[in-house]
Amino acid sequence: MMHDLQPVPAVLVKIVPMVVDNHLFAFRPEQPLADIMPGQFVEVSISGVGSFPVSSCDLVRDGRIMSCIRRAGRVTDALYRLKEGDTVGLRGPFGNGFPLQRFAGHDVLLIAGGLGMAPLRGLLQALLEDHDRQGRIMVLYGSREPGGLLFYDELVGLSQQGRISVRFSVDFAETLPGPHPQVFCRIGLVSELLEGLQFAPRRTVAAVCGPPALYRCVLEELALTGIAPARIFVTLERRMRCGIGECCHCVTGGRYICRDGPVFSLEQLRGMAGAI
Ligand SMILES: Cc1cc2nc3c(=O)[nH]c(=O)nc-3n(C[C@H](O)[C@H](O)[C@H](O)COP(=O)(O)OP(=O)(O)OC[C@H]3O[C@@H](n4cnc5c(N)ncnc54)[C@H](O)[C@@H]3O)c2cc1C
Ligand code: FES
Repeated sequence: MMHDLQPVPAVLVKIVPMVVDNHLFAFRPEQPLADIMPGQFVEVSISGVGSFPVSSCDLVRDGRIMSCIRRAGRVTDALYRLKEGDTVGLRGPFGNGFPLQRFAGHDVLLIAGGLGMAPLRGLLQALLEDHDRQGRIMVLYGSREPGGLLFYDELVGLSQQGRISVRFSVDFAETLPGPHPQVFCRIGLVSELLEGLQFAPRRTVAAVCGPPALYRCVLEELALTGIAPARIFVTLERRMRCGIGECCHCVTGGRYICRDGPVFSLEQLRGMAGAI
């Protein structure tokens, strides 16, 4: 696995606009990086501008790394000004990723808010491509407004094929997305989608990704349903610099988020003061 501080040149092979200020970017590194596991991240650098961490929203296919990236500030803005064929730098993959072996043989509950769907979509792809997998996959996904729901058609399609069940929430909307008979959508917070959800907590592993306001309330709510805290996972976002546990930029609750995380269980988080 390459953990060098020197970025590898990578060609921006495809840019696909999804929703406003959220595009899919496919990168092809000139030297292959180690496969990125769901929940791990790479550092994308743009010459003369800076770098930022980003997760992959898909499995690495034909050497291509796919990320859904929001235009958030200085460096992502510079990325949005590039075009297909331009070159960026990539370092990584970094971090632990989701412990896929802990998901085997269990029902899976994925809970995402906003851009949090991007890393969870990578996890979802890994679960769907594991043909030995047994158990249900339930997705609860909330966004501020219907137009912000990422991968909406894909999630609806998977639900119509019976491969997942999905429930959406939006903070506000004049009209709800649809109509899709199998798809549930309500106005409210994503945590409210747990209401009335039929599932077996003792058989379930949960993964959560979204803004801090989401995981602050939803993690303990999941524990109250009876899912063991050791089987509730969240991926944390912190400002990163080196990505390899050397600069201390990301240290929270005595742990390096870049190296020991970014994925932690609720059991671990309860011992990390200030992490959530
Ligand atoms: C492990 C990890 C995975 C990530 N995966 C994705 C992804 O899949 N897609 C994606 O679009 N983004 C992802 N991000 C967030 C992404 O790294 C930031 O949006 C990016 O750093 C913004 O850089 P910028 O220079 O464009 O913005 P800046 O100018 O640095 O910041 C713009 C705004 O965002 C805030 N901000 C920037 N970084 C963070 C952070 N880490 N935590 C909280 N607030 C922040 C700043 O305070 C500021 O308000 C991930 C972050 C981490 C740590
Ligand atoms: S980003 Fe440098 S120690 Fe984590």
